[in-house]
Amino acid sequence: MLPDLPERDDADQSSPVRPRREFLKNAALFTGTVALLGGGLELLTRRPGAAETEPGELFAQGRRPLGPYDTAEAITPSAQATTYNNFYEFGVSKDAPARLAGSLKTRPWTVLIDGEVRKPLRVDIDTLQSWFPLEDRIYRMRCVEGWSMVLPWLGFPLAALLRRVEPTGQAKYVKFTALYDPKQFPGQRGSLLDWPYVEGLRLDEALHPLTLMAVGLAGRVLPNQNGAPLRLVVPWKYGFKSIKSVVRITLTREQPRTTWASAAPDEYGFYANVNPAVPHPRWSQATERRIGELRRRPTLPFNGYADQVAHLYTGMDLRRFF
Ligand code: MTE
Repeated sequence: MLPDLPERDDADQSSPVRPRREFLKNAALFTGTVALLGGGLELLTRRPGAAETEPGELFAQGRRPLGPYDTAEAITPSAQATTYNNFYEFGVSKDAPARLAGSLKTRPWTVLIDGEVRKPLRVDIDTLQSWFPLEDRIYRMRCVEGWSMVLPWLGFPLAALLRRVEPTGQAKYVKFTALYDPKQFPGQRGSLLDWPYVEGLRLDEALHPLTLMAVGLAGRVLPNQNGAPLRLVVPWKYGFKSIKSVVRITLTREQPRTTWASAAPDEYGFYANVNPAVPHPRWSQATERRIGELRRRPTLPFNGYADQVAHLYTGMDLRRFF
């Protein structure tokens, strides 16, 4: 039976007020991401002096101008972004991924890209990420459970990868499959979900410049609990679409059967665009709680990305295609 995705964020937050120290530390790490643009990904060490700068100040000083896809909102501290996670392969509690994911083996790691493409390929993760300049993107992330974060990802647009494999004229959707390995994933030893975790996008959604394949977070190699070594990030959709630990990307003619939409079709649609006007059967979607804040804030259509993505859904009834 499908577990409730419990809205336990309020109860779980031992310290709802963001500790300034962590915030500054995060800012220092973020400073480092600038150095990674166009370069390889490596573990960063804090630069002396950088810890005194908050992200907003970085932009004000013009050292790292906001990119066209970045939000200027305060970044969620790494300490929270890496300890409050949904990764059901490690269990249902928010702290299980941080406790258990350390042992996940992310090298060697191979990604297969196949289906309706002219140039299918199987590639090692390090080779894959060397093909593209890495970009940092500060995105909002809104979970269907009613909490949200602001996360500084590092990755490459999925469109760049898809162009490389040359989709055929028959390709209409993209299916993503996460690693299946019950030896490493205790959650996969039970039947909580139909493993492996599968997600999907329409091809035009996958090609949208906001759609990112992330390999890093806050200036560091992506922590295992956040979906190492490769995860999808689709910021205008509920977080469950952003599948972690991807091993296969398949272009298809038909809409793929996705994990949550098959488990509870009345609760989780294929589209899952953030929509404050369409309540989930168990949770209103009108408001959200930003992790680190006390008050709830209004949820924005398409998670605040309507200007960039609403045109993808022109003429669609978003209550039916939820
Ligand atoms: N990907 C896999 N493979 N397994 C999961 O359980 N959970 C999803 C998504 N990707 C999940 C997944 C859900 S419900 C959310 S809200 C986000 O990951 C959470 O991402 P975060 O833990 O990095 O914040």
